[in-house]
Amino acid sequence: MTRVAKLFYIVGILLFLITFTLACLYANKMHTLGKQNPDEIMPDYQYHFMLIPEELDNDYWRLVEKGAMAAAKANHILLEYVGPKQSNINEHLRKLQIAAASKVDGVLTQGYNDKQFTPVINHLVNKGVPVITVDTDAPSSQRRAYIGTDNYYSGFLAGTSLIADTKGKINVAIITGSFKAEHQKLRVKGFKDAIANEDRIHVITVEESNITRIRAAEKANKILTEHPETNAFYGTSALDGIGIAQTVVRLNRVQSTYIIAFDTINETLDYIRKGVIDATIVQKPYEMGYKAVEMMIQIQEGKPIPEINNTDTRVIHREDLIEKKGELPQ
Ligand code: BGC
Repeated sequence: MTRVAKLFYIVGILLFLITFTLACLYANKMHTLGKQNPDEIMPDYQYHFMLIPEELDNDYWRLVEKGAMAAAKANHILLEYVGPKQSNINEHLRKLQIAAASKVDGVLTQGYNDKQFTPVINHLVNKGVPVITVDTDAPSSQRRAYIGTDNYYSGFLAGTSLIADTKGKINVAIITGSFKAEHQKLRVKGFKDAIANEDRIHVITVEESNITRIRAAEKANKILTEHPETNAFYGTSALDGIGIAQTVVRLNRVQSTYIIAFDTINETLDYIRKGVIDATIVQKPYEMGYKAVEMMIQIQEGKPIPEINNTDTRVIHREDLIEKKGELPQ
């Protein structure tokens, strides 16, 4: 290598390291402002919002974040994505309390559990911080609006799909994200109501996964051990279907087991393409995030917004993926 080439090489590496370090610092600041002055991070921001999900490190919530960040970028909004790294109600509530103490202009949060979240949401509103619930509503609270799936309807849709897709006696086990989460309860209720008049379909048991694929896999294993007659599963949150699929594959029961899942994250779509998961309920997390930011801007500008904003829900099967070459809008 000549001297000049060596010099270019070293300068190139240095530039890369400086850019990389700055990018990391900036990304980190966007997620946890801490005691930082927001003006230092985005000098020309119009409003400062916080998006608080039940779990940061979750592929489903990353899509909500992606949509919200895109809308924030398009509208000069300083958006912080903060919340528990792994699902934890107390931690989630604490983040909302921190938001109330800080000077944010608006909060977008999952409502999760009406009883526990209503006082905290009302506290924010009383402090002058408007709240929009995303993905899960807290209808008793003073939140200004809800954007997300009609969760009862989505569960009902899962039940009607099970009826339409199967024949003969079905013993179905349900694995749900949490017994305490409002939207999970609605998804179970809608499902049970849909199958209530079908004598050939019987619910064996309902278990909780704490929204982790590992727990869902363990629960599926427990169910198949205790109730070997189980020949169908319904997973009501994004990682449940994946955990169930892992166990069903491991136990070599793919042919004899019908699985209906929730959401369209990549692992679920892969299992559908392989014929392990039979169907999944599509939600619109990207759109929820994008529109939630737009709605919060409208609130800041004193414009009226509808209280309930349901995003589309539908069911898809393997054929839908093959026809559309696997591309699904989020
Ligand atoms: C739900 C989210 C939940 C996620 C868990 C989705 O189906 O809508 O509320 O956090 O699953 O993986």
